[in-house]
Amino acid sequence: MERKRSLREYILNMETFFKDKKILITGHTGFKGSWLTQILLNWGAKVSGVSLLPETAPNLFDILKIKGRANSYFYDIRSYYAVVEAIKAEKPEIVFHLAAQPIVRVSYDDPLKTFSTNVMGTSHILQAMKEAGGVKSAVIITTDKVYENKEWIYPYRENDALGGYDPYSASKAAADIIANSYVQSFFNVADFQKKHDTLVAIARAGNVIGGGDWAPYRLVPDIVRSIYEKDESVEIRSPHAIRPWEHVLEPLSGYLMLAQGLFEGKKELSGAWNFGPDSESFMTVKELVAGAIKFLEKGSVDIRLDPDSQKHEAGLLTLDTSKSKTYLGWKPRLKFHENLEFTFSWYKNYYEKATNPIEFTNRQIEEFFIK
Ligand SMILES: NC(=O)c1ccc[n+]([C@@H]2O[C@H](COP(=O)([O-])OP(=O)(O)OC[C@H]3O[C@@H](n4cnc5c(N)ncnc54)[C@H](O)[C@@H]3O)[C@@H](O)[C@H]2O)c1
Repeated sequence: MERKRSLREYILNMETFFKDKKILITGHTGFKGSWLTQILLNWGAKVSGVSLLPETAPNLFDILKIKGRANSYFYDIRSYYAVVEAIKAEKPEIVFHLAAQPIVRVSYDDPLKTFSTNVMGTSHILQAMKEAGGVKSAVIITTDKVYENKEWIYPYRENDALGGYDPYSASKAAADIIANSYVQSFFNVADFQKKHDTLVAIARAGNVIGGGDWAPYRLVPDIVRSIYEKDESVEIRSPHAIRPWEHVLEPLSGYLMLAQGLFEGKKELSGAWNFGPDSESFMTVKELVAGAIKFLEKGSVDIRLDPDSQKHEAGLLTLDTSKSKTYLGWKPRLKFHENLEFTFSWYKNYYEKATNPIEFTNRQIEEFFIK
């Protein structure tokens, strides 16, 4: 009881903090960006976004009716002038940068689009913040795939070497290095409130699941599409592959904590942070699909070999989250089965039209943050 009360107090503090703050989110039409926008709108923030139009049907951005509630710039971040125009027009105090080409398989098909979006797009956001001024706090979202994967069992720490085998991982590692270069060169904590007023953090998380994702080549969207849209068995390619899945609200809570702390001038929060699940939450692809079938109360599995299996697939890579737990007070809140329940009950509710999806999403946000 005591633990819940103090966390509730902490969340009330976050809600109060974000009320009326001017926040710009890149990638607000995407899966994670739509959840983040919804949380911040619920807390009374003034949210604007820079993104491409949603690329899937259905998509969470339209389901949550975000377009009319957040000032949306449907601009391409590969254009510096578009980015700087949006930042100058909105004058945000806080920036969350999530826009990216985030799919490994797409990065093999179109490496140049992946590099131009993820590397130059990130450079444009940072440079536009520098040029426009006025941003007090920024969180640049990269991924756990930024680490040079040594294919060993040890979790990766923030100061481990970066690398990237496939174009997506390499593009995000490059974006991470560029963000760090801006931190050192232009937003250095030693010059804070002397030469600039901006503190920047880099957030690394991976294998995020949750309701409202319909992106291609991702397991959860593939499961729900097979079951609800195609009425087919779920085909799985690597049933025994273990992945450290975490619910979307887990890393988002970390990004929000970072943004608040940086805004409050906590210089020690500048730099890189890992947000990943504890080892009890790691599960195999087969276990995830079994969980889906249990919570959706329908569907079946068909184990097949991946026709694309000649493409390199990284082995298990996990994050050491000691730094986030110790210095930020962040921790994963949902247990393994709660993550599955949150994720698949969202889709079940959506496809079976039980409760209004905005109401259902808000209920999950509230339940998560009082946990
Ligand atoms: N979902 C995951 O499992 C996961 C894991 C690790 C990191 N991430 C990172 O989190 C962020 C969000 O991922 P997501 O899962 O919500 O992806 P998503 O595909 O659902 O959303 C991507 C967003 O980026 C925008 N975008 C893409 N190209 C753009 C461009 N050229 N100009 C402007 N906007 C553009 C899209 O419009 C969309 O709003 C990404 O940076 C991704 O690399 C995601």
